[in-house]
Formats: sequence, C-alpha cells, structure tokens
Amino acid sequence: MNLAPITVAVHTLGRDSRQEFIDAVRTGFARTPKTLWPRWFYDDRGCELFDAITQLPEYYQTRTEMSILEEHARAIMERVRPASIVELGAGSCTKSRVLIRAAKGMGSLWTFVPFDISEATLRRSASELIDEFDDLTIYCVTGEFDHHLSQIPRFGRQLIVFLGSTIGNFEPDEARTFLTEVRRLMQPGDHFLIGVDFVKDEGDLVAAYNDSQGTTADFNLNVLARINNELDADFDLDAFRHLALWNAAEHRIEMYLRSLRQQEAAVREAGLTVRFAEGELTRTEVCTKYTREHVQAMLMDVGIRVVDWYTDPAQRFGLLLAR
Ligand code: AVJ
Repeated sequence: MNLAPITVAVHTLGRDSRQEFIDAVRTGFARTPKTLWPRWFYDDRGCELFDAITQLPEYYQTRTEMSILEEHARAIMERVRPASIVELGAGSCTKSRVLIRAAKGMGSLWTFVPFDISEATLRRSASELIDEFDDLTIYCVTGEFDHHLSQIPRFGRQLIVFLGSTIGNFEPDEARTFLTEVRRLMQPGDHFLIGVDFVKDEGDLVAAYNDSQGTTADFNLNVLARINNELDADFDLDAFRHLALWNAAEHRIEMYLRSLRQQEAAVREAGLTVRFAEGELTRTEVCTKYTREHVQAMLMDVGIRVVDWYTDPAQRFGLLLAR
C-alpha cells in the first residue's frame, strides 16, 4: 500500500522539445567545429544504449561508483542525516536507491526529490521506488540544468547528489555556473555529494569510450539516427565513424563523428542542409576527467567546502562529500 504521495512538477521553457531540438541542431551545425550536445543522445534508443554501455567490461565507471556507494552509503548518511535527498539527473534512481536505503535505516529521511529532464523516466523511477519505500514522499521535478535548478523545493536538511561524473560533460564555464546554482540551493547543514571520474591511464580511458563491441559507436551514431527520425533528415549513418580521443591539455575524452567522405545531409524540419568535408569532425561529447585537487578547487571557488572523499581501492572513481 502506498501511504506517501508522488508529486510531479514539470518545468519547461514554454516551447516544445522538438523546437529546442531544431534550435540545437541549427546552432550546433553552424559552429566550427560542428557540435551536437550530449543531451540529445538520450531518446529511448539512446537511453537503452547508454544502459548497455554501463554493462560493458571496458566501462568501469558505473559499477565502480555503485561499489563505492554500497560500501560507504551508511557512513555518508550517518554524517549527513538528511531529511531530504535531492538527486540531479536522477534517471533510473538506481544509485539513489542505495542512499535512500541507508538513510531510511536511520529514520531521518522523509523526502526524495529526483530532478531529471525526462518526465516519463521520473514517473517510472518514482513508482518503482515507492514499491520499496512505501512511506517516502517523492517530489519529482522535471527541468533542465541550466534553467530550472532554482525550482527545486527544499524539504529540510538536504543532501544534494550529482553522480555519474555527469559534471564532466560541461565545459569549464558551464560547470562553474552549474555549481554556483547548486551552492544557491544549499543552507547551513546541507551537503553535496558529487561523483567524478579520475584521470588515469590513457589506454583505459580511451577503451572505455571505444569499446570492442562497438556499443559506444552505436550510441554516438544514434544522435544522427534521432535527427533522421525526429527532424526528417537523411544522414547516411554508414558515412560517419565514431571517434574517441584523449585531449591531454583539457584532460578529457572527446567524442566525435567523422565524416568518411564529402557529403551533405538535409534536415528538412529545420530547413537546413549540412555540408561535410571528407574527414570533418562533429563533436558530440566531452567527458572531463579529474584530479582531487581540481574538483576541490572547483567547489571552493563557488563557496562549497570539502568534507571527505570516498573512493574504490584502485582510485578509479571518487565521490566527494562537501557542505
Ligand atoms: C553519462 C556523461 C557520465 O561521460 O562517461 C558514456 C556518457 N558517453 N560513454 C560519460 C557516455 C559515452 C557518460 N556520462
């Protein structure tokens, strides 16, 4: 029996997401180099492919972060004792489930606030959570990181979590803006838990984004398939190749789609013809990798103070608790 309510607050920019997609495709293909933003990876097929990525032998991140959570969730919750857990980019809520379970065992937690871009995902995750935690109040917020963080309601002393090294998708200035918004949500006693992927052996990093089964390649190419499906475009998926490079100066993996020949594609719904030179790269994602010092400096810069690090034995991935 469900005793507690699920509330869903939907925030949009007042235009439909198809129009946003059209705008993003127009803006992105007009840039040099051509750019598509990672947020557009995640249609239903993209979410499926990302799930498959998290199971790949080369993609250590998800399972490593999960193992750190399982090992340290109790210790973290004992320190924080939140009345509310807010998860930014909550998705399937698999990771927050571990935190909620630990906090529930201690009796302080009342509310879970998952924030995500996808309303359908949030509804599904919330009803799955209610099955295990039937007295948890769930307040779903759908919105975008760069517009709607300020809409997140506060239900007492809170732990804000941002997992999966998703911060790595931001450019440095975007990361700073994002963390400033997080800081604005925080009051004395509140905590912030952020998951980051550490800089490591270049071969291991590249392998994680260039797996032997080609799943990451399918994930990357899927953004073109999505443009074909949703915006009536005619990208020839066989004429582009997935590429993942380590950019040492920016300490990040960069994903590209390389045009295998000179070609053009029509994006009819956007009234656009996109021309590619042979070998031309379209950037689809950056995945920044961090040192402890780098993360600490980013947080201190916006007035968030470091409490403790939790990592796996091989130090592949880290969770930083801050306040
Ligand atoms: C979901 C952003 C953490 O950067 O590793 C995985 C996305 N892209 N493989 C990452 C991704 C290619 C992932 N994040």
